[in-house]
Amino acid sequence: MKNQFQILIVEDEAPSRQALAMLLKKSGYEIQVAANGEEAMEMTNKTPFDIVITDLFLPGLSGIEILKRVKKKAPETHVLMITGNASAETAVEAMKEGAFDYITKPINFEKLKLLVAKALEKSLLLAENSYLRQQLRGKYRFENIIGTSLAMQSLFSRMEKVVTTDSTVLILGESGTGKELVAKALHFNGSRREKPFVAINCAAIPAELLESELFGHVRGSFTGAFYDKAGKFEQANGGTILLDEIGTMPLHLQTKLLRVLQDHEIERVGGNKRIALNVRVISATNADLEKEVREGRFREDLFYRLNVIPIHLPALRERREDIALLARHFLSKNCQELKRPKMTIDPKAIAALEHYLWPGNVREMENVIERSVTLAEGEVIHLEDLPPQFSAATPPRASGLQGLPELPPEGLDLERYLAHLERHLIGEALKLSRGVKARAAALLGIKRTTLVEKLKRSSPPAR
Ligand SMILES: Nc1ncnc2c1ncn2[C@@H]1O[C@H](COP(=O)(O)OP(=O)(O)OP(=O)(O)O)[C@@H](O)[C@H]1O
Ligand SMILES: [Mg+2]
Repeated sequence: MKNQFQILIVEDEAPSRQALAMLLKKSGYEIQVAANGEEAMEMTNKTPFDIVITDLFLPGLSGIEILKRVKKKAPETHVLMITGNASAETAVEAMKEGAFDYITKPINFEKLKLLVAKALEKSLLLAENSYLRQQLRGKYRFENIIGTSLAMQSLFSRMEKVVTTDSTVLILGESGTGKELVAKALHFNGSRREKPFVAINCAAIPAELLESELFGHVRGSFTGAFYDKAGKFEQANGGTILLDEIGTMPLHLQTKLLRVLQDHEIERVGGNKRIALNVRVISATNADLEKEVREGRFREDLFYRLNVIPIHLPALRERREDIALLARHFLSKNCQELKRPKMTIDPKAIAALEHYLWPGNVREMENVIERSVTLAEGEVIHLEDLPPQFSAATPPRASGLQGLPELPPEGLDLERYLAHLERHLIGEALKLSRGVKARAAALLGIKRTTLVEKLKRSSPPAR
């Protein structure tokens, strides 16, 4: 990043003003200086400052008055206060009026530099966010969630119902089914859309850091905590937090989270101040949370708190009628992104996509199509352009069966083994189709009547 940051220093004592200016210039910022508040306010009319650093005690306009005016005119400008023989009250008042932070004289230059860097990092995030938000609102329109199957229709109607509320939502679904997408769509189409959407993946953060990531910490609360830091909950204030992979959260944190959800307040790690918050909570998991509860790994009371409105995302193999639709959606998206002419998929390739089991769900589909677009020679995607697992997935189907069993050295009873295998696969098919026999039969490439026959023969049915 080049010297794009503009800093204004307001200080009546010339030596101190010059020292500060020199120091920050050396760090590569654009610096302007003012000797009093009136001069400073005039300069803010001409330059949009990222940071105003002002002495609290000035002749004429006071530091607090400058702070108030700056914040009124340009709320995104961060104001750092310099306090002389600071009485705590003035510093507190400044913080209440929206000062970013304050620093006491004699100024510790290292500390000041760090504070400035911290403030700039924050404005960068804010700027990015307001631009990003524009983009995201378009990206996360419900129309961009693809699917016309019954399962998706009921998903949409449920989303419509909760999008305008603040209800706590639990999104369930296998990996790659679109949990994060749905969480974002709920946020960016709801009344909190102008406020932050903050996601935290509980599985990706080491347990010992998770608490501070979620709730923040105060300086010195543990080794490496050099500064007070806001956690994700505070960052999401007014908006939405997505607690992703909630199933992996350690039990002691589950207890803390439960308290936060009940009290709408957090306490930073090592702190003793309670901070009131207004955050909509959406959690997501690909785990069977009810099972986790039964087995004592997830608090039951927390589960009920989070599971006010459950939203279940169907696996792709449970909504095969959406496969072609999704494939064409990703195809046109990829062509657009790569600025390639429009492409089509030939029927054999579509059939192969439809027969595949999609363990990685929509994300896997996205990758498969992207890869095929990159590799395809012409304007049509043929079966050969799909990854190898698809050639195996076309009829005669062998979809999902990776590798073949080895013959044990002692041999086996082939008839029994095959019957066993058949029962197993029928059981799987019934599970996938949630007991709908026609669908299970389709999955196995046999007639429904054949399936019923087989079920009768193998009693008790393998379910
Ligand atoms: N119905 C859909 N329509 C269009 N794109 C989708 C749909 N569902 C998922 N996607 C896309 O698939 C990818 C995976 O979705 P997402 O990250 O939301 O899944 P997830 O359930 O959170 O997965 P994981 O459990 O692995 O985190 C994303 O790029 C998302 O935009
Ligand atoms: Mg996810």
